[in-house]
Amino acid sequence: MLSSSIEFLLNNELITINDANTNTTVLEYLRNYKNLKGTKEGCASGDCGACTAVIAEMKNNKLKYKSINTCITLLYSLHSKQLLTVEYIESKYLHPVQQSMVDNDGAQCGFCTPGFIMSMYAMHKNKIRPTDSNINRYLSGNLCRCTGYRPIKESLKNLKKYKNLDSDTSKVFKKLKKIKLKDVVLYNDGSKFYIHQNLKSFKKDFLKSKNPSLLVGGTDISLDITKKRMNLNEIFYLGQNKDLNYVRVKNNNIHIGAATPINDILGTLKKYYPAFYKMFERYGSEQIRNVASLGGNIGSASPIGDSLPVLISLDATLVLDGLKSRKIEMSDYFVGYRQTKLRKNEFIKEIIIPLKSKNNIHKCYKISKRIDDDISSVFMAINTGIKNSTIKSIKIVCGGMSATPKIAKATEKYLKNKKITYENISKAKLIISKEFSPLSDVRGSKNYRTKIVSNLLDRFWNEYNNKKVTVYDF
Ligand SMILES: Cc1cc2nc3c(=O)[nH]c(=O)nc-3n(C[C@H](O)[C@H](O)[C@H](O)COP(=O)(O)OP(=O)(O)OC[C@H]3O[C@@H](n4cnc5c(N)ncnc54)[C@H](O)[C@@H]3O)c2cc1C
Ligand code: FES
Ligand code: FES
Repeated sequence: MLSSSIEFLLNNELITINDANTNTTVLEYLRNYKNLKGTKEGCASGDCGACTAVIAEMKNNKLKYKSINTCITLLYSLHSKQLLTVEYIESKYLHPVQQSMVDNDGAQCGFCTPGFIMSMYAMHKNKIRPTDSNINRYLSGNLCRCTGYRPIKESLKNLKKYKNLDSDTSKVFKKLKKIKLKDVVLYNDGSKFYIHQNLKSFKKDFLKSKNPSLLVGGTDISLDITKKRMNLNEIFYLGQNKDLNYVRVKNNNIHIGAATPINDILGTLKKYYPAFYKMFERYGSEQIRNVASLGGNIGSASPIGDSLPVLISLDATLVLDGLKSRKIEMSDYFVGYRQTKLRKNEFIKEIIIPLKSKNNIHKCYKISKRIDDDISSVFMAINTGIKNSTIKSIKIVCGGMSATPKIAKATEKYLKNKKITYENISKAKLIISKEFSPLSDVRGSKNYRTKIVSNLLDRFWNEYNNKKVTVYDF
């Protein structure tokens, strides 16, 4: 049965709402409608973390906590979740993450502090050990201009000193369980926001829609609202659709539902494609990875979308659906700058990644100005099978070098069936430096990009020979 309002918990209060503008962000709602101003607005584009809040979701009968950027999360996507804000976590006393920030001098002007506190709170609630790498991961989406990161990190390391003051979550659990997971359609001023629980009901509405916008994490599309000031008229939220949220390994393939959050696919990637998994450590931030999907990355069709060269290098296939279902190779999907072979009222249903020979060497090189939360200037994925020092198969796919992610065909052709020697790699470097004609833009000049792709073949050579490579990205 269709419902015409959403329900969620705002801290401990059950909210039922259907009269908001369908493009309202969670941040706007908190600050302008609920007077909860602890959550700050810095950039309105997911980059600074000042707006971080935490959502609690039911997963396998447990509450799972995720930090999110409220500035790019749409209000109606909160259906059936608990939204936790900085005002909530303190009761009679400061919460340990707050007290530890005070005791370790973790704040100066304080503008970033609520956002940091909420990222720390998510880490604490998920019982993540405060190792350096876990702390870096959880704080990757929070920027501080004045304190410096050392005391903030110390606050997390020293958390164990404090008594756990967390309240009992069983009541929250019961309240969330009571919220019925139904399909929802919300209307406001001629705009619509749909939430579907399964593929059948989604397709029924989607196929009739004249101007649909698909929404998963909103880490790309919400910027159309916050930065381009566009109004999205018919939004289809896929984040709750169980038929688009899954990871399965069967018949020598990994099948990933297009709306599955990146963080939910990492366990499987770590097992089968560790370089791909490792690449995601540098994909946006924890807040981004908690909600962003592969379907959204492919759907954006950006020439610098990080997963695209990797998926092409792994011979991934897309399952597209709409009036009919069809399959297309990822390598054939992109046709021009942000143009793809997706037809009107079609959507990406699934990404299929074949499990290839374990002996292949797979590399993912992301080059960007910052380690965390940055878009690539250049990306290179290499997938090669080398036997008796001969390159039997090779895929080299680059991002940031042309209007679409692109295969370095001439370089591949040259290297295939050649001995892996420095002379051959040097020749390949020359070929690849002539193979693309990249643009100059804020992320890198044409010359810089051309130099980088050629140098990345050096890096590959050095890694192949187990030479010590000084890398500053991972
Ligand atoms: C701060 C920040 C950092 C970022 N860092 C990175 C990064 O390091 N690397 C990178 O590659 N990207 C990065 N991005 C971009 C973005 O996070 C990714 O592209 C992400 O994977 C998008 O997923 P989403 O679920 O949020 O997509 P959404 O924003 O929900 O959707 C994006 C687009 O895809 C379409 N779409 C969504 N699902 C489907 C589907 N099933 N079928 C067809 N179309 C669909 C939508 O309609 C929309 O046009 C960053 C963004 C931000 C804001
Ligand atoms: S306001 Fe900067 S990430 Fe949201
Ligand atoms: S304390 Fe000032 S921005 Fe972090």
